[in-house]
Amino acid sequence: MSTFQAPKGTYDLTPPRSATFLAVREAIAAPLRDSGYGYIETPGFENVELFARGVGESTDIVTKEMYTLTTKGGDQLALRPEGTASVLRAALEANLHKAGNLPVKLWYSGSYYRYERPQAGRYRHFSQVGAEAIGTEDPVLDAELIILADQAYRSLGLRQFRILLNSLGDKECRPVYREALQTFLRDLDLDEETRRRIEINPLRVLDDKRADVQKQLTDAPKLRDYLCDACKAYHEEVRALLTAAGVVYEDDEKLVRGLDYYTRTTFEFVHDGLGSQSAVGGGGRYDGLSEMIGGPELPSVGWALGVDRTVLALEAEGIELDLPYATSVYAVPLGEEARRVLFGVVTGLRRAGIAADFAFGGRGLKGAMKSANRSGARYALVAGERDLAEGVVQLKDMESGEQSAVPLTEVAAELAKRLG
Ligand code: HAM
Repeated sequence: MSTFQAPKGTYDLTPPRSATFLAVREAIAAPLRDSGYGYIETPGFENVELFARGVGESTDIVTKEMYTLTTKGGDQLALRPEGTASVLRAALEANLHKAGNLPVKLWYSGSYYRYERPQAGRYRHFSQVGAEAIGTEDPVLDAELIILADQAYRSLGLRQFRILLNSLGDKECRPVYREALQTFLRDLDLDEETRRRIEINPLRVLDDKRADVQKQLTDAPKLRDYLCDACKAYHEEVRALLTAAGVVYEDDEKLVRGLDYYTRTTFEFVHDGLGSQSAVGGGGRYDGLSEMIGGPELPSVGWALGVDRTVLALEAEGIELDLPYATSVYAVPLGEEARRVLFGVVTGLRRAGIAADFAFGGRGLKGAMKSANRSGARYALVAGERDLAEGVVQLKDMESGEQSAVPLTEVAAELAKRLG
């Protein structure tokens, strides 16, 4: 070990577990790419004000969890705590919404940073794959995104997840509800911090995990009873579309989410094998966010799935992904001459698109074959001086143990045939 360790709340992805992370990212991205979402990448940091305005001044993310810094030039930046505000900022900056093709459908994958109290499943550096559909108000779009996330999780083999669904209303009906809720909450027996929260963000109080608080909330006014007709109809349509697609969800009127930009549809994917950090993904509609960051009216919807927690969910369900062999062929040279010749063969195989690796460092047969085993390669190529004199290499099937001599000039063709 060196003098240094990964910072608190972070961890390194190393082989072989790192292969599962890549496969999870790919499994989430694949259905998006197939559904017209284009890839977008934005910087790891942004002007701090973007998140303050976008995510919300009163959220834990902005008040407690942002990594902020002042540059030598005096700019106030923050490491991105989430992707939605950045992606919308970038789409507006590139005028993607003016290209005449709404919604602008984008997907992304990257690192996010929150200064949270670390625990199992909660890290200060984590990874998300996300999707945003910008500029269209259409319940089919909300349904599409939920269906695609469901499809991604199912393609990984996950079964013990549930979809929680809610509507948070819009700028017409939510303020009315907010006031009714505040009036109710002000009469409860709550601590100072929670009292402050009532004034800034009363919906978050509903999300309080403490039993004594939850007990007092039983008779709290329900947002459902305050939704305007347009929001109700919209929500019913999303629900009907999900049902028609065979996607099972649970109505959860307590689902408020930790970011302020949501309107109407909100949802969370929770996994029952993860303990307290059970949300493997979440998202919703954010019809007002564009205007909040100085853009035009662009009703939008999106989600982000946590890669770290999805991997934990796979582990909780005991799912081992069927990962392709990293290398198909492993070459084991015996002696100087064989080193040169086999390295030439390996280079040729790689150029022909066959994944191949090589026993470096001039090790003996036993050690090199151990490495060949560990590499997971389907075939080993072994050659010593006598083989070279005869112009052949030994091709060993690592599964059956069968071995045969193949002329050097035919190795590539033979492997291509066998590997299909
Ligand atoms: P979020 O719910 O804050 O939403 O994060 C989405 C997912 O990221 C969570 O469900 C969780 O799996 C993962 N995650 C969040 N924080 C951590 C952490 N500290 N450690 C490990 N995993 C974590 C958003 O970020 C929104 N931008 C989603 C969205 C996109 N809404 C609309 N579009």
